[in-house]
Amino acid sequence: MTNWEKINEQAIQWIKEAGSKIRASFLQQLKIETKTNRNDLVTNMDKETEQFFIKKINEAYTDHRILGEEGFGDVVEDENGVIWVIDPIDGTMNFVHQQRNFAISIGIYEDGIGQLGYIYDVVHDELYHARKGFGAFLNDQRLSPLSEVEIEDAVIGVNALWVTDNHRINRHVLGPLVQNVRGTRSYGSAAMEIAYVASGRLDSYITMRLSPWDFAGGKVIVEEVGGVVTSLTGEPLTITSKSSVFISKPGLHQKISEKYLRSVELN
Ligand code: IPD
Ligand code: CA
Ligand code: CA
Repeated sequence: MTNWEKINEQAIQWIKEAGSKIRASFLQQLKIETKTNRNDLVTNMDKETEQFFIKKINEAYTDHRILGEEGFGDVVEDENGVIWVIDPIDGTMNFVHQQRNFAISIGIYEDGIGQLGYIYDVVHDELYHARKGFGAFLNDQRLSPLSEVEIEDAVIGVNALWVTDNHRINRHVLGPLVQNVRGTRSYGSAAMEIAYVASGRLDSYITMRLSPWDFAGGKVIVEEVGGVVTSLTGEPLTITSKSSVFISKPGLHQKISEKYLRSVELN
């Protein structure tokens, strides 16, 4: 039997340790490189942080697999066994440009089911964490179950990109929703935006394309407080594929789906 309590304790300790190293790096010169395009940044701290976790996990749990954004872990093509899904720094552009609004994001899954989730806002020392069936917490404070809200009273996380010409969604689909809600926000870290839905700072978060490491930790956390996690077309998310993501308070998820996303087509 997997000892989730022990894994949870160790994961929290490692995340805090990694956070300290990232904070210390603010005083040093970062090595910044680009990946797929000039806006897709990676730094030495992204790589070092992922390697830090991999070393710890491999030493403690030889049978666990690791899916990490920077590619130092395993090639994971199925959901079998225990898999750590790691984004060492989610919001690297913010990390480089702002030194805030980024997070360490980790989800630990067993046979495809999320058991532990963590999103650590390193700068504010805010650790969102959850264990399936045991509730979600912001540091030591238990997060309340999410309550219902009307579309007109909702603040939603959405990037302006999705209402301009782009190759994923017709630019006119989300315009009416954006016009009808109370407000929109875009923080530039998917993990933090999911954590904000879990803590009630946002009512929904909508985006067209995320990788498993962007949502794996957040999915566990937000589901523990009753949030609904699907793709834009209502499909469940899995840690083996990229997807559009629509995370929302209960009730609001259904209202937005029915009113604005009924016949949405994504590329
Ligand atoms: C990115 C951030 C961003 C989201 C992108 C992600 P990264 O992650 O979460 O908010 O819009 O799709 O790739 O590259 O900073 O880890
Ligand atoms: Ca990310
Ligand atoms: Ca990242």
